[in-house]
Amino acid sequence: MTALGLMGLGVMGANLARNLADHGVQLALYDPAAGVAQHLAQDLGSAGTACATPEALVAALAAPRTIFLLVPAGAATDAAIESLLPHLAAGDVIIDGGNAFYRDTARRQAACGASGVHFLGFGVSGGAEGARHGPAIMAGGDRTVLERLAPTFAAIAAKAPDGTPCFARVGDGAAGHFVKTVHNGIEYAHMQLIAEAWQLLRRLLRLPHEEVRDLFARWARGALSSFLMECAVRALDTMDKDGTPLIEHIVDTAEQKGTGQWTANAALEYGVAAPSLAEAVHARCLSALKDMRLAMEASVGAPTMAFAGDVKALVAALERALLSANITVLAQGFALIRAVDAEHGWGVDPATVARTWRGGCIIRSTLLEPIAEAYAAAPDLDNLLRDRVLWRRVTAGDAEWRQVVVTAVAHGVPVPVFSASLAYVDGLRTGRLWADMIAAQRDIFGQHGFARFGSPGRHHADWATLDLTSPAGGS
Ligand code: 6PG
Repeated sequence: MTALGLMGLGVMGANLARNLADHGVQLALYDPAAGVAQHLAQDLGSAGTACATPEALVAALAAPRTIFLLVPAGAATDAAIESLLPHLAAGDVIIDGGNAFYRDTARRQAACGASGVHFLGFGVSGGAEGARHGPAIMAGGDRTVLERLAPTFAAIAAKAPDGTPCFARVGDGAAGHFVKTVHNGIEYAHMQLIAEAWQLLRRLLRLPHEEVRDLFARWARGALSSFLMECAVRALDTMDKDGTPLIEHIVDTAEQKGTGQWTANAALEYGVAAPSLAEAVHARCLSALKDMRLAMEASVGAPTMAFAGDVKALVAALERALLSANITVLAQGFALIRAVDAEHGWGVDPATVARTWRGGCIIRSTLLEPIAEAYAAAPDLDNLLRDRVLWRRVTAGDAEWRQVVVTAVAHGVPVPVFSASLAYVDGLRTGRLWADMIAAQRDIFGQHGFARFGSPGRHHADWATLDLTSPAGGS
C-alpha cells in the first residue's frame, strides 16, 4: 500500500486515518492544532508518524508523494495548499477530501498543475462513521494518478451489497466534487420527503409516536429501505432523559452548510429543471424563519389541520408516494450531473456514479441498483424517468401520490418536495404545456418572438390592442 500524508485531523481526518491504518497504509500526520498529530500517531502505533510542520509532512514521504487534505472547504483548503506547494515536486499529488465547490477545485487544479503537482477532488460521503468504517468516494482528476491510488482507496471504501468497493473515478477535473455536491442536493430532498411524511403522520393524522416509529421501521425494511430512512427510525427510537421522545424537544429549524444550495444554483445556472432539489433548500430556509412563523401563527392562525378521512388509506398512500418522489428526486439529480458534465467534458458515466452510491454514502438505498442497471443498459438515457422499469415504479403509486398532495394542500400542510416532484413528473409527461402563454406575453411586451407550429424560425405577431370592454377581448 502507498504511504500517505494526511493533513487535517478533525473527526473526519482522524477516522480516515484509523481506517487507512487498519488497511496497512503508512501515514504521515499533520494538523495545525498543537498536539493533535502526536496524539493520533500514538493511537495508531507503528502506522502513524506525527509531523510538526507541512514541510516535515512532505519530507516524511517518498516521491511521488500523496497528501490527503481533510480540512474545512474554502479558505482553509487554499491555506493548506499554499503551505504545501513550495515543498512539493512535479508528480506529487494533493487530494482534497472536503466538500469543495467544484469551481474552486478546477481553479486549484490549474494552480497546482503549474508546478506539475496533481490536484484531485474526492467527494467523500458517509459522515464520521463512514470515514471510520467505509465511506463512498467519488474521485475526480487525472486517470493515471487515480489508477495508481485506486487500490488504497478501494480498500478503505464501503462495499456495495455485491461486494464492489464504493470508490470510483467518476470523471476528469472537478467531476468528483461536483458529483458529491449533487449527492448532497439529493440528500436534502430525500431528507425533506421523510420530514414531510413525518409531519403528515404525526401532525395531520395525529398518529401516536410509537405507531409512526413502527411504520418507519417497516418502511425501512421494504421498498423504501435506505440509510436516511434508518436515520429517521433512530430519531424516533431515541428518548429524552425524562422518557419522552427526543424528537418532540427538537426545534423545527434545519441548518445548511451550502452544498444543497450549490446544487440548486447549478440547476438554475445550467437551465436544468430540478424543482425538488431547489424546494428542499427553500424548505430549509423557510424552517429557519422560526420567529416569523410563530409570530404569523399567533396573529393570523395556522391552517386547519383536522383530518376526517381514511387514516389507513392515507398511510398506505404515503408509502407509495414516498417511493415515487424519491425516484423523481434521483432523476433530477442525475439529469443535472449529465447536463453539467456535458458542458465540462468530464466524461462522467452515470452508471458508475449510481454504483458508487450503493454503499457508504448518505443517500445509499436499494434504488441505486436499478438506476445503475438503467444507465448501464442505456448510457445515453436523457432522463431516468424514461427507463421503463423506473417509470413503472414511479407511476405504480401515481394515484396515491396525488392523494397525498391533494390531502396535504386541502389541510394546509406544506409538502414542498412531494408537490414539486409531482409537478415535475406531470410536466415531463405533458406534451403541451402553458408556455405558449408565456411566449405570447414576451412578444407582446418585449417583441421577443415566438416559435410557431408548422413554420420554422422566429415569429412576431401584430397583437390585438387592449379592449377590456369587449367580452371577446378586442374583436
Ligand atoms: C455526507 C454528507 C456531508 C454533509 C452533511 C451536512 O455525504 O457525508 O453529505 O457531506 O456535510 O450531510 O450537510 P448540511 O449541513 O448542508 O446539511
